[in-house]
Amino acid sequence: MYHVLSAHQFDRNQLDQLFRMAEIMEYTAANGGSNLLNGKIMAALFFEPSTRTRFSFESAMMRLGGKVISTENASQFSSAIKGETLEDSIRVISSYADVIVLRHNEVGAATRAAKVSSIPVINAGDGAGEHPTQSLLDLFTIQKERGSIDNIRIAMVGDLTYGRTVHSLSYMLAKYKNVTIYFVSPENCPIPKKVKDYLDEQGVTYFEENDLHEVAAKVDVLYMTRIQKERFPSGEEYLNAAGRYVIDEKVLKLMDEKAIILHPLPRAGEILPEVDADPRAAYFRQAKNGVYIRMALLAYCLEGKQAGAELEALA
Ligand code: CP
Repeated sequence: MYHVLSAHQFDRNQLDQLFRMAEIMEYTAANGGSNLLNGKIMAALFFEPSTRTRFSFESAMMRLGGKVISTENASQFSSAIKGETLEDSIRVISSYADVIVLRHNEVGAATRAAKVSSIPVINAGDGAGEHPTQSLLDLFTIQKERGSIDNIRIAMVGDLTYGRTVHSLSYMLAKYKNVTIYFVSPENCPIPKKVKDYLDEQGVTYFEENDLHEVAAKVDVLYMTRIQKERFPSGEEYLNAAGRYVIDEKVLKLMDEKAIILHPLPRAGEILPEVDADPRAAYFRQAKNGVYIRMALLAYCLEGKQAGAELEALA
């Protein structure tokens, strides 16, 4: 059984194969979809809010001929409110569906779920832990937009302590050659030591900076993140971090003409709307790529290696 729980589980070869599958999925989606997952059911169990992750997983499943059962706000609208444990919910949902996509507020929730599940579990974000499927679509977008992930210089900007997307993305980037990472954050939400220790072990070059304007001129990818009010220990701590880094016309002028701006979204003021018309603003293309990556992941979780062969035949 193949669960998707952490960025650590992917090696370079698997990432290359997955991105090849995602390319075929893009073609498949543009040509009426496929019946590859006909008869399969995906359960989307979301304890935290989501627009992109839940809808793109649901869209992905439907584009492959599968069906979806879904709950958002599961802490209120599932039996969790009656005191049911995550483990019991997962045991039961395992007998109703073929794959579970889980977003939860607690770090490690997806791993706990996978331990008791009889069907694959996909981590769609576990608190301030990881968001591996986001990182897959981030890397797929960098490969599409820049031609290669090797040799890139990337700045990750914003809430780096609680931002699960930057944790998973850092782990995954360590699989590529000659990557340089600039971590740019307010003093009260730096990149965690655990992530830096891993990058040190893997020999990845990284810098911690606080001047966005200086860094913007040096990088190929500017990866913005939201300061996540809901994860800060107090309103005061949040206000100390909020509004510090903003992409505006001035930052655009500093950036290389082939550089791209990514953001997992939603944004909360850190990229001004006037930036959207710039061709380097790739964040809506990035969100669209989420459907193709999630089609590839669902196919792999439910059909295994056979999916790759069937997809190559479609291409
Ligand atoms: N990028 C992301 O996880 O967005 P949602 O919270 O809308 O799913």
